[in-house]
Amino acid sequence: MEHYYSENPMAKHSIIRIEYNIENLSLTFESDAGVFSKTKVDYGTDVLIKTIPALRGRVLDLGCGYGPIGITLARLNPRAEIAMVDINQRAVDLANKNILLNKIENATAFQSDGFEGVGGTFDTIVTNPPIRTGKKVVYPLFEESINYLNKGSHIYVVIQKKQGAQSAMNKLTEIYGNCEAINKKGGYWILRCFI
Ligand SMILES: C[S@@+](CC[C@H](N)C(=O)[O-])C[C@H]1O[C@@H](n2cnc3c(N)ncnc32)[C@H](O)[C@@H]1O
Repeated sequence: MEHYYSENPMAKHSIIRIEYNIENLSLTFESDAGVFSKTKVDYGTDVLIKTIPALRGRVLDLGCGYGPIGITLARLNPRAEIAMVDINQRAVDLANKNILLNKIENATAFQSDGFEGVGGTFDTIVTNPPIRTGKKVVYPLFEESINYLNKGSHIYVVIQKKQGAQSAMNKLTEIYGNCEAINKKGGYWILRCFI
């Protein structure tokens, strides 16, 4: 069965454009069949973007989809350098198109299974994780994330309460020794851990 997290979705193309407004910015994202939240920016994604404070340095958007998190953060934080990765090649192609479409100069997207293709360390990791893949995929991503963060930096995770926010928080606390729900809105929790 095909999922939004397939490496190469076979779903027939159905390209659309989505508008996303935040602060005084108006961004346009091209989306398609076979990617996550293809018809509008996901509610949890929106809450995450609006919760994250100003950023600097290297930022990783883990599981970027067509790019709403990485691209918006790049535009809001011109001094940050954003790397965006996804296992789904169709999503990565859309993210790269959307970087160009929105004239973003401080972000790049590439295909990677988790951290496999990711080089270096980061000052922030942000993720709307692929919860549908299950704990067997998501928890190892949490476990590995700590190896890719510089000292003094944060990971931000959005997760729906009913999709296991409390268990994810427990898991992240086990890994990082701390984890705080810094925002709770519409059934979504924004978790932040510090290293
Ligand atoms: C919940 S979606 C979020 C997408 C996008 N960040 C957004 O907010 O709209 C999770 C993303 O993780 C990707 N993903 C799933 N497994 C992955 C893996 N092992 N490595 C990298 N990305 C993965 C999926 O393809 C999907 O695009």
